[in-house]
Amino acid sequence: MSIKMEKLVALCHRRGFIFQSSEIYGGINGFWDYGPLGVELKRNLKDAWWQDIVRCPQGGPEDRPISMVGLDSTIIMNRRVWEASGHATGFCDAMSACKGCKKLFRTDFLTDRVVCPECGGVLTEPRQFNLMFQTHAGAVQDDASMTYLRPETAQGIFANFRNVTDTSRVKIPFGIAQIGKAFRNEVTPRNFTFRSREFEQMEIEFFIRPDTAGEWYQFWRDTRFKWWQSIGLAGTNLQLREHDRDELAHYAKDGAGTSDIEYKFPFTDPGFGELEGVAHRTDFDLRQHAEFSGLGDKLKYYDQEKNERYFPHVIEPSAGADRGTLALLCEAYTDDPGRPSGVVMKFHPRMAPIKAAIFPLVDKDGMSEIATNLYTDLRKTWNVQLDIKQNIGKRYARMDEAGTPFCFTIDTQTLSDQTVTVRFRDTLEQQRVHISQVRAFLYTAIGNP
Ligand code: GAP
Repeated sequence: MSIKMEKLVALCHRRGFIFQSSEIYGGINGFWDYGPLGVELKRNLKDAWWQDIVRCPQGGPEDRPISMVGLDSTIIMNRRVWEASGHATGFCDAMSACKGCKKLFRTDFLTDRVVCPECGGVLTEPRQFNLMFQTHAGAVQDDASMTYLRPETAQGIFANFRNVTDTSRVKIPFGIAQIGKAFRNEVTPRNFTFRSREFEQMEIEFFIRPDTAGEWYQFWRDTRFKWWQSIGLAGTNLQLREHDRDELAHYAKDGAGTSDIEYKFPFTDPGFGELEGVAHRTDFDLRQHAEFSGLGDKLKYYDQEKNERYFPHVIEPSAGADRGTLALLCEAYTDDPGRPSGVVMKFHPRMAPIKAAIFPLVDKDGMSEIATNLYTDLRKTWNVQLDIKQNIGKRYARMDEAGTPFCFTIDTQTLSDQTVTVRFRDTLEQQRVHISQVRAFLYTAIGNP
C-alpha cells in the first residue's frame, strides 16, 4: 500500500469512516463496514446521484425532459435469471494456484503466468472460477434450491421491464434506476474497499430505440463524467476511457461502445481504476429473458408513436457507490503540517459528512445554551454536530479530520451582539455572521441536503 493509502486507511479507522467487517474476530477479507462518518459520506453520494440522475436528470438529445423511474429489486432472484443473463456460465475469472505456497492468483493480474509472485513456486494452468456467491432458498439444501446472490443490480431491472412499462406511463426513451448491494466472490479482494466481495452499485438501464443508440451513449458518457466532476473529483485525477475491443463484456456486440470513468487512486501500483462503466448493452438482456422466461415477443416494447413492437436497446451507466466513496476520500485527503491534526479532509461541501460544527467557546455564561439552540435548529435540515467540551484547537482539529466545511463558535461577543464566528475549513479564514443569518449562510454555501 502507498504511504498516502496507509495514512488514509488509518484516518478512516481512527475517525469512524470505514472499519474492517467483523474486526473483533480478525476480520473477513473483502468486506467493509461504514462507521458514523462513512455512512453519511456514502449516503450523500447516493442521495446526490438519486436527486441529479433519477429525479432530475438534465439535458438529453431530445427536446423534452428525460424520463426516469426508480426500482428496488431483491438480491436473491430465481436462478434462471442468471442462466439467461449469461452469468451462470460466463461470469468467471481465470485463476492460478501456486503448487508450493497454495495461494490463489487472478491470472490477469500476473506478470509471469508460470512463477508464483509470492514464493517463486510453480503455478497451475489457469482455471475458470465463477464469481457468484451461491446460497439456498428454503430448508432443503439441494441443487433445486440453489441460487445466487446477485453480482449486479441490473438484472433486477431487466426482469421487471414489463412490470414497469405496464404500471407506469414511461415511454421510450426512459430509464429505470436502482441502488443496491451486489456480491462477487473476488479471487483477490484488495486495495481497501476498491475490490470488495460485497459492494453497492448505482445503476441505470436506459431503454432507447436502436437507431438512437449512438447519441444516447455519448450523452450518458458525458453526463456521468461531468457529474463526478460536480461532486469534487475535478482535475486530472478523473478520466474517461473508451474500451479496447478485447475488453468488451459478453453483452456488448461488435461496434457497441463501452467507456470507463476512472479515478487515479493512490495505490502502490498507481494507475486509474474504474469508478463507473457506461455500456451500450444492445438488446442482449431483454432478448435473453424473452427466450429463457418463455415470454418471447410479449417482452417486446410497443412503441405507440411508431406503431411497432421491438426489443429496445440499452445504455447502461453503472457506478460503484463504494468506489465513489473511496475516490471522495482519496481526493479530500490533504496533508497540512500547519494544522494540529496534520491533515484536512477537503470534501466538496455537498459530500461532507458533517456540514457544520457548533462550538461554545467555553461552557459558561449561557454560551452552551445558545450553541444547543442553534444546533437543534440547524439539524432539522443538515447533519451538524454540537461539541461543548475540550479546548477549541482540539475541536477544530477533529472537524478538519472529519472534513467539516464550517465551524460556528459562540463566544463573548455573541452575548452582546448576537454574532458568531464562522471558520472556513480550507482557508482557515474567520468571519462574523449574525446568528439569525447562519441558516441563510449554509443554504448559500451547501444548498439543500
Ligand atoms: N451491470 C454492469 C456491471 O455490473 P461492472 O463494471 O462489473 O458492470 C459496475 O460494475 C461498477 O460496480 C464498477 O464500475 C465498480 O464501480 C463497481 N464494482 C464492480 N466490482 C466491484 C468490486 N469487486 N468492489 C467494489 N466495487 C465494484
